[in-house]
Amino acid sequence: MVNDLKVEIQRLKKQRNAVILAHNYQLDEVQQMADYVGDSFYLSKMAANTDQDMIVFCGVRFMAETAKILSPQKVVLLPESDAGCPMAEMVTAEDLRTLKAEHPGVPVVCYVNSTAEVKAESDVCCTSANAIQVVAALPEDKVIFVPDENLGHYIATQLPAKKLILWKGHCATHVKVQPENVKMARAAYPGAEVLIHPECIPEVVAMADFVGSTSAIIHYAEQSSAKTFIVGTEMGVLVKLKESRPDKQFFLLHPGLICSNMKKVRLQSVYEALIHKQHEIIVEEQVASQAKQALRRMLEVG
Ligand code: 13P
Ligand code: SF4
Repeated sequence: MVNDLKVEIQRLKKQRNAVILAHNYQLDEVQQMADYVGDSFYLSKMAANTDQDMIVFCGVRFMAETAKILSPQKVVLLPESDAGCPMAEMVTAEDLRTLKAEHPGVPVVCYVNSTAEVKAESDVCCTSANAIQVVAALPEDKVIFVPDENLGHYIATQLPAKKLILWKGHCATHVKVQPENVKMARAAYPGAEVLIHPECIPEVVAMADFVGSTSAIIHYAEQSSAKTFIVGTEMGVLVKLKESRPDKQFFLLHPGLICSNMKKVRLQSVYEALIHKQHEIIVEEQVASQAKQALRRMLEVG
């Protein structure tokens, strides 16, 4: 049955001239089926550069929207239409306009985990992979950063010369992790390295051996000379790690590190997306063209 689905997906993918992109948090079965798996930054670049006519984006809505904005001539499908990122809904374009009016002339950096309308109100986007470089590249000392307060706080610790004006958004999955979890994990696995996503709270980030995006965490653990790792991000990253380094041990820092939205996509949804061409992402033209500038500026920084 699963094999039939895989064969059908391959057949439809060819027929539609489609590429399947999957985020590192996707289920094992989806990651195995994807053409490219990675973090938000890598997938944005793949979406911007693909030659195929159709992109099936196995992730959450803001990721598929970003793909559509960067590749407007392509059909972009989100296999599960209600796979959203609650953090992206924590700031609206109206909120951001009000904040900008309170701080005239201050540039806005928005985390890619945001709506297209918020991107359109921003000067430049960033992901967790390039947030520090993006903020550092701005000539201004003061910067508005939305919507993730924790990532913003992490950037501020790395760039003390910058004054960041932060919005109070957060990821409900990553904020579950508390310093006590790190202490307990270190006691249980002496010598293990603790790898943390910057969406975690500052007290947890401060206890990490390594802080980075999902792909940076995977890359770090693959290359490190350590043998045991405590992973402080969504459990999906363990798929790649266990496959590429079966000689190492990986433990999840907190049992609640599961993003229910990311887990909505199944092989069956990928199949249905391809056969019914669902659910197509549409971004209003004016919003898309303004948001594209902010995304393009991010890609220029790298
Ligand atoms: P990355 O860009 O690090 O893959 O993270 C995306 C995300 O949503 C983290 O929760
Ligand atoms: Fe959004 Fe958090 Fe899920 Fe990432 S893990 S997609 S930030 S809800």
